[in-house]
Amino acid sequence: MSHAPLAPLGSHALIPKAELHLHIEGTLEPELAFELAARNGITLPYADTEALRTAYLFADLQSFLDLYYALMAVLITEDDFEALADAYLARAAAQGVRHAEIFFDPQAHTARGVALGTVVEGLSRALARSQERHGVTTKLIMCFLRDQSAESAMETLEAAKPYLDRIVGVGLDSAEVGNPASKFREVYEAAGELGLRKVAHAGEEGDPGYVWEALDVLGVERVDHGLRSLEDPELVARLVRDRIPLTLCPMSNVRLRTIDVLEDHPLVAMMDAGLVCTVNSDDPAYFGGYAGDNFHAVGEALALDHERLRELARNSFVASFLDGSAEEEELRARYLAEVEAYAFDAATD
Ligand code: ADE
Ligand code: ZN
Repeated sequence: MSHAPLAPLGSHALIPKAELHLHIEGTLEPELAFELAARNGITLPYADTEALRTAYLFADLQSFLDLYYALMAVLITEDDFEALADAYLARAAAQGVRHAEIFFDPQAHTARGVALGTVVEGLSRALARSQERHGVTTKLIMCFLRDQSAESAMETLEAAKPYLDRIVGVGLDSAEVGNPASKFREVYEAAGELGLRKVAHAGEEGDPGYVWEALDVLGVERVDHGLRSLEDPELVARLVRDRIPLTLCPMSNVRLRTIDVLEDHPLVAMMDAGLVCTVNSDDPAYFGGYAGDNFHAVGEALALDHERLRELARNSFVASFLDGSAEEEELRARYLAEVEAYAFDAATD
């Protein structure tokens, strides 16, 4: 499948925002994949970028993950990870992202013989100059693959100890159904003892029980997706009471067929229920759009007015982990002030 070029973004999509649900490996655009493959002497099983794009027709989460992991073969050196992150940050900045909390999947690289240090050092190089170069502040979150063992997750946490000055938290991703969060109780406890923040994917394809486990067993501070939370009113009450933010990814939900069309997205009902919702891009190279594109798409499909868009942008900074120091709190206050002062432009909307 090839996709029509996206329309230029109007001001409603460019409001200052934080991106809180973004897999850096999911920002690997076909052009960069081919460039890195050539540099590393790897032959991809696709003739060209157009042929690769035709593979982006997913039946479900697993069919996406199969391609997502396969394409990571081109990421070998620190330079590759740096190029990947730098390209994302440039695109994110152009779509109004002012702060990004970026996931990466260590086990998907160490399993291929790429050392954790290579990944972290490469990403860190791009992140270290992101504020200056792109005007985007950043944090890094290390995700465990939930379809791997708890022992492997614990080994990964252990291996990350030399890099914890660069890693703010832990997450949990990959195939959800059949891989409940409870398997990772000990590793999340250990992460908490190391001062790491906790998030987890839950309720993407899985039912609300997966979200309950992320809250009660792992003690997460944010839920990644949580799309199916409305199915359980008690869960909604809990998420509202504890102000647990949800990092929703509308274009991802359509591409992975958890919803049929964006018009069916429960975002408005979730906001009306009092949930702290944010809008994010997940794996933008695969799902057709970056953060601003997601604001645009959901804004159009659900006819969100400017105040709803402002609330989503505000929530993104409130839900961020920009609370580690007085300096960060000041930065967050500055970003929130930018959101309040943002003037939508009727000419472009
Ligand atoms: N890894 C990358 N993207 C993911 C998603 N949408 N769900 C679970 N794991 C992922
Ligand atoms: Zn995700």
